[in-house]
Amino acid sequence: MQDITIKTATVESVIHCGAGAFDKYAPELKNRQLFIITDSTVDKLYADLLNSTFGENAPKFVFKAGEKSKNTRTLLAILQKMLECGMRRNCLVIAFGGGVVGDIAGLAAALYMRGVHLVQIPTTLLAQVDSSVGGKTAVDMCNVKNVIGIFYQPQEVIADPRFLSTLPKREIRCGLGEIIKHGALNSEIFKKLKANERKLTKLEFLEDIIYYNIAHKANVVTEDEKETTGLRKTLNLGHTTGHALELLYGKLSHGEYVLTGMYYELQIARNLGICGGQYAKSIEKLILKVLKKVPSFDGIEKAAELALHDKKNDTELISIIVPKCEGESAEIKIKKDEYAKYLKQISDDLRG
Ligand SMILES: NC(=O)c1ccc[n+]([C@@H]2O[C@H](COP(=O)([O-])OP(=O)(O)OC[C@H]3O[C@@H](n4cnc5c(N)ncnc54)[C@H](O)[C@@H]3O)[C@@H](O)[C@H]2O)c1
Repeated sequence: MQDITIKTATVESVIHCGAGAFDKYAPELKNRQLFIITDSTVDKLYADLLNSTFGENAPKFVFKAGEKSKNTRTLLAILQKMLECGMRRNCLVIAFGGGVVGDIAGLAAALYMRGVHLVQIPTTLLAQVDSSVGGKTAVDMCNVKNVIGIFYQPQEVIADPRFLSTLPKREIRCGLGEIIKHGALNSEIFKKLKANERKLTKLEFLEDIIYYNIAHKANVVTEDEKETTGLRKTLNLGHTTGHALELLYGKLSHGEYVLTGMYYELQIARNLGICGGQYAKSIEKLILKVLKKVPSFDGIEKAAELALHDKKNDTELISIIVPKCEGESAEIKIKKDEYAKYLKQISDDLRG
């Protein structure tokens, strides 16, 4: 078990990471006024654990599992219940679940009485290696992902791989999407992924790699908490295209669209001569190990309009972050029509 710290101008956030972290650190929270937020699937699996750890009387808000719940209606319902339960200014919100729970609970904690304490206990691989760390909170609105949100750092994160044992294989693959993204940015993670290509989904490998992913993200967030210097923007690798495809088609999960986005953006980087040779092949191989088959899409050109309106863009050009060489990425700014042409070409090539 190891601790990682994020120090920003305003807050210090500790991430307890590794097997046994929940048993060691969660009981310490129970003397506070707690408000637990989770989703229906996680609650079914872990209600007994929550009761025995935090007490049966701790107020809990359970919403229907899935991205569709990540909206202002759920957010307002949470805030209303917090008020009805008499939550005070010094209460503690516990976000117990995947990235959807973490993003909504984080925003609720940031808004209630202008901000109350927050602890993230991520239960999906994606949430452990990515979304619970770094303080981005949000809900979706009018078909735009994460458009209502704020940076709000949790006081603590408890990332315990014990929760991964109940996670469906597909959700493990989603988390691996973000891990491969980190591998395309960090050469230590890349080397570990390459050396363990056959073991990527094995729990013992994941237990080890989670720490390196959190450490990478924590370093980036410590240096560029609010995406002002450009460093944090690198974490959007795969996401411009991934989010656009997610909005346009919405059939796969977030992590699967991130992996798909990474594949398409890697091909654009290859075409532009930014990334190539053995390195590009290795990244592609990792993506294919997890995704098995990269999807092609009818009407994919329409994704260009959505990518242009992505909140990562501040010009009339589409910004994508692509791998360059081991441990290095590059930002490409590309015209909408050119980007649409690339997407169509790559999709056609996948059809063969
Ligand atoms: N804030 C950030 O920096 C950040 C970064 C990346 C992604 N995100 C957001 O995270 C969300 C995706 O997160 P996710 O993939 O964790 O999705 P999710 O929260 O919807 O979880 C996926 C599914 O797994 C279930 N689940 C959770 N824990 C489980 C467990 N231990 N055992 C069995 N089932 C379990 C959930 O109920 C859900 O059905 C998206 O909304 C995305 O925008 C945020």
